[in-house]
Parts: sequence; C-alpha cells; structure tokens
Amino acid sequence: MKQQLEAIRAIALDAILGTEQAEELESLRVKYLGKKGELTAVLKQMGKLSPEERPVIGQLANEVRSKLEQSIEQRAQELQAKALERKLRAETVDVTIPGSVQKIGKKHPMYQVLDEIKDIFVGMGFEILEDREVELAEYNFTKLNVEEGHPAREWSDTFYFTEDSSILLRTQTSPMQIHAMESRSLPIRILAPGRVYRKDEVDATHSPMFHQIEGMAIDKGITMADLKGTLNEVVRQLYGAHTVTRFRPHHFPFTEPSCEMDIQCHKCLGKGCPTCKGEGWIEVLGAGMIHPKVLEGCGIDSAVYSGWAFGMGLERMALGHFKISDLRLIFENDVRFLEQF
Ligand code: PHE
Repeated sequence: MKQQLEAIRAIALDAILGTEQAEELESLRVKYLGKKGELTAVLKQMGKLSPEERPVIGQLANEVRSKLEQSIEQRAQELQAKALERKLRAETVDVTIPGSVQKIGKKHPMYQVLDEIKDIFVGMGFEILEDREVELAEYNFTKLNVEEGHPAREWSDTFYFTEDSSILLRTQTSPMQIHAMESRSLPIRILAPGRVYRKDEVDATHSPMFHQIEGMAIDKGITMADLKGTLNEVVRQLYGAHTVTRFRPHHFPFTEPSCEMDIQCHKCLGKGCPTCKGEGWIEVLGAGMIHPKVLEGCGIDSAVYSGWAFGMGLERMALGHFKISDLRLIFENDVRFLEQF
C-alpha cells in the first residue's frame, strides 16, 4: 500500500504540474482526491492492514493528500496568473499607433460660390426662390418677348419634349421672372438659382447642363442706376472693394435697355492676359430693365412700376473665383479635385 500511495503521489504531482487549464486541474482533483478518487480507493483498504501498519500508512496517506491539495492550489494560482497575463497582453492598446484619418465631405466649390452670392442678396433683402426646370415654351420664350420663329427657339439649341415645341427644358432661369410677376404682389425682390439646359457639346467652356442665377427687382421708380449699384455692391462683397466693373450695351428681347457686365481681370488689371484671353475684362452676366411689354404681359402697369433683372452663369463665377481652367472639372466630381477647396 505504501508503494501504491507513493506511486499515486508521484504520478499525480507530475500531472498537476503539466496542466495548462483550470478545468484540467479540477478533473485531476476529482480523479485523485474526490470521493471516488484513487486516494480514497486506497484508504478504503486500510481495514485490511495490521494494527501496527495502520498508523504508519494513515500518516503517509494524510501526507500525500495534503501534498496533492497544496500542489493543486499552487498550480491553480499559477494558471490564474498566466490567464490574467494572457488577457492583458491580448487587450493591450498601443497608444503610439497613428489614428486612421476619416475623410469628411466638403461643399462643392460651385455651391461655395452660390452660397456666398445668396448670402449677399439675402443681406440686401432679397428672397431666394427655386423654380421648375421643365417649362412651357410660353414662359421660357413667348412671355419673355421671344416670338415664334426667333432663332433662340430652334430645335438645334433647345431640348423639347413635344413635337409642337410647347414643353422644354428651360434654356435660362428667366422664366422665373414671369412666374414671380404672375403670382406675387409688388414690390418683388428675388434671387433664383437653378439648372438650365442647352444643346451644347461638352468642352472646356460648354456643357449641356449648367447653372444660372437670376435676380429681379420690381418697384415704383426703379432705374438702371439701381441695377448698377446693386451689382457693383455684390461683386465688391464677393471679390473685394477694389473690384472694377463695366457695363456694355447689349440686346435681350425681355430687357430694354440691356447690358452685359464685365469685371476687370484680377490677374492683369485690364492689360490683357491668358486668364481674360487678352481682353482685360471678364464677362459675368447679362442684365437690363425689364421690357414694358413683359411687365404688361404679366398685368403690371409699366407706367407705375419698373424693374431690373439679371442672369449670371454660376459655373463661370466659380471658375473665376477659384481660378479653375476647365468647366468639366466642376461636373466630374473627382475627389482629388474636390478636396482642393
Ligand atoms: N437669360 C439671359 C441669358 O441666359 C440673361 C439675362 C437675364 C439677361 C435677365 C437679362 C436679364 O443669357
């Protein structure tokens, strides 16, 4: 029996030291020290021993039991410490690793310019309006004094929806003038940005879809001086107080008199350079006093009321503002381009 006990002690201690998991250790405890365990099985045979042998073997059995209990306890602590270390290692955060950069979207350069222009007009008491893109020819042309047969109504320039040329994609934001005059009470001060469409091939300065900003003011006693004063103030707020403008006579069917406004080239200050194509000036908008015929057509007494209107190309403003050389960049939405603004 003595040999049996010593064999159990040797084998069990070996096994205990070899455990790597808490569960393994527990099953060893059951195997050797449990009620049906090997040590208990040996002790059950104590009755067969002689009275002299009994205390000797009993003492040895107790020694083995407490030795095994001790080693199991010690191994349990070691395993716990190991497990903790493993956990800490696995959960380590390296605070020196550089963070991953989150890309944040930005406002499109054209909308940056549009929002600036809107803000300036709102500051002057104008209301912002957005109008329809699918229009009746009546509003896009006829009521704007562009009669049937006028070259601007050609199928080669305009996207028509119907054979009878009555419904189209607006070619300008000017039909907004008619809608506003027909539906609002006077005085009117509105700014209406939006998309317009013309049958143009895409190149560095053309696109079949582009944006215009239409502005209009109608009241008693409004003159060309109000138009010039307003537009001068807008470009000075937009480009700085030193900005020089000039107004050239022009023709539009729906304004009389009509003009175009140029801004002196910011690069060469009027001398002529590649940016202004040698002109010294950059054309930015068309404008004029609303034609009495147009006012009357909308039921406004042109003897009492007068007004001005202008239409400006938004893309051209953005190209100039950010010194972008090609219109296509505005529409391609290449992130590498957009990120620069
Ligand atoms: N609609 C004109 C164009 O597209 C611009 C304009 C608007 C001119 C208002 C005069 C008054 O060219």
